[in-house]
Amino acid sequence: MIDLHSHILPGIDDGAATLEQSVEMGELYAGAGFSRVVATPHFVPGTAWMPGKDIVEWGVEELNEVFEQKGIGVKVFAGMEIAMDGAIAGLFEQGRLCGLAGTSYVMVEAPFQQMPVGWEQVFTELSAKGCRVILAHPERCAQFKQYPVLFDDIISLGVYVQANYDSFLGGYGRPVEETALWLLEKGYVHCLATDSHDTVYRHPGRVKKALEVIGKTVGKEAAEIMARINPERVLADRNLKVPGPGSQGAGKKKWWKFF
Ligand SMILES: [Fe+2]
Repeated sequence: MIDLHSHILPGIDDGAATLEQSVEMGELYAGAGFSRVVATPHFVPGTAWMPGKDIVEWGVEELNEVFEQKGIGVKVFAGMEIAMDGAIAGLFEQGRLCGLAGTSYVMVEAPFQQMPVGWEQVFTELSAKGCRVILAHPERCAQFKQYPVLFDDIISLGVYVQANYDSFLGGYGRPVEETALWLLEKGYVHCLATDSHDTVYRHPGRVKKALEVIGKTVGKEAAEIMARINPERVLADRNLKVPGPGSQGAGKKKWWKFF
């Protein structure tokens, strides 16, 4: 499997603090069935978290060497999780942002409260520059929970959605879980990722359990598209498949309600 979203690089953001922790995360990834991981350290315009592309690429190279020496069968690729901000398109133009594994895919982090004014313009500008945007974990954004109709606008702009595995297990609380399941049922989740930060709280160890929940909700075929097929297509720089509205789990009693 491929993880498109991981804070595995050491000492660069709030992810792995040390190289030892990165190694432990690599071992967890291998144990959970992952062979490729895209390192996506935070890039937050206007803050101290604005790693240079060269720093990320160097960190990835070093980590791959260590994994090889230690016999950890996980290959790491360079990427960034870029916080949603009006400055993103300009920063991309300046060559300061790193796409996912050298592809045209750019991971944009959904804010936790609400999207900034003019967010549609940001996505339009990025598309005009040849980027394919993946919006990371919008299920964690409070505004979307209140106004789910915004997702229609996001999807119509050609933006892809990545949900976190842990969101389906209540890892971020019930409201986030409900939004994640709602997105799933709408067919608005294109890919799944772990957003791993460490080896204790946010790591790849619960992926199998989350996939059971997802499979029961929308069916194994859709789960396969989100978990395996689309991440492969990202790395191959191809358009993503649309899992479609969840219907295969239609017989299952819906214990949750969005409103
Ligand atoms: Fe993240």
